[in-house]
Amino acid sequence: SVITNPEGKQKVASLIAQKVKDGDVLGVGSGSTVYIALLAIAERIKAEKLNVLAIPTSLEITMFCAKLGIPTTTLFEHQPDWLFDGADEVDPQNNLIKGRGGAMFKEKLLIASSPVSYIIVDESKIVDKIGTHFPIPVEVFPQALLLAEASLRKLGATEIKLRPAAGKDGPVITENNNLILDCRFSEVNHTLERDIKAITGVIESGLFWGYNLEILKASNA
Ligand code: A5P
Repeated sequence: SVITNPEGKQKVASLIAQKVKDGDVLGVGSGSTVYIALLAIAERIKAEKLNVLAIPTSLEITMFCAKLGIPTTTLFEHQPDWLFDGADEVDPQNNLIKGRGGAMFKEKLLIASSPVSYIIVDESKIVDKIGTHFPIPVEVFPQALLLAEASLRKLGATEIKLRPAAGKDGPVITENNNLILDCRFSEVNHTLERDIKAITGVIESGLFWGYNLEILKASNA
């Protein structure tokens, strides 16, 4: 993933690392911001010999935890004490769009399972209205593709793009063996997340509306 503004994110990463306590189970989101925070956490774990378990939200982060020597667990065995993640867009009410990395299903599952969620963003992610720049990613069971497209249009989607894979022909296949539709809507409101989720064959969307989140802003200065 692309790392923008590493200095600002670095400061917030240290802040996140300071929150780690011995015995914590951490939900770990995905993306380049999470990556930087995880590096800072790994240093503390090593230096202070902390006993910490991570619940990763993607294969990328599972592999990174392995490389850093951070033991991982799953939602079968543990629930997170708190979590940290990035975002693609945040509005003034802390509504989010996530899922550039395609991991929004597990990210939302972890956020819904965690009592405290820190979302780290730099200024480039802050918008007045979400959905302005970034499309809303929707994870769809492959054979529900046509039904989902038609239903998303009925909900007001003005543009729907099947996300193409990088490095291979054809579409992105998520870690759950599904497809991703990147959708633009003329109007993003408080019922849209629920309405998208109600379509049969939709696994999850990257729209996070009204969640209890603490936004940590990395300054660009
Ligand atoms: C991953 O699926 C996404 O939800 C990321 O959290 C989001 O794209 C932010 O990524 P960066 O931290 O790389 O900007």
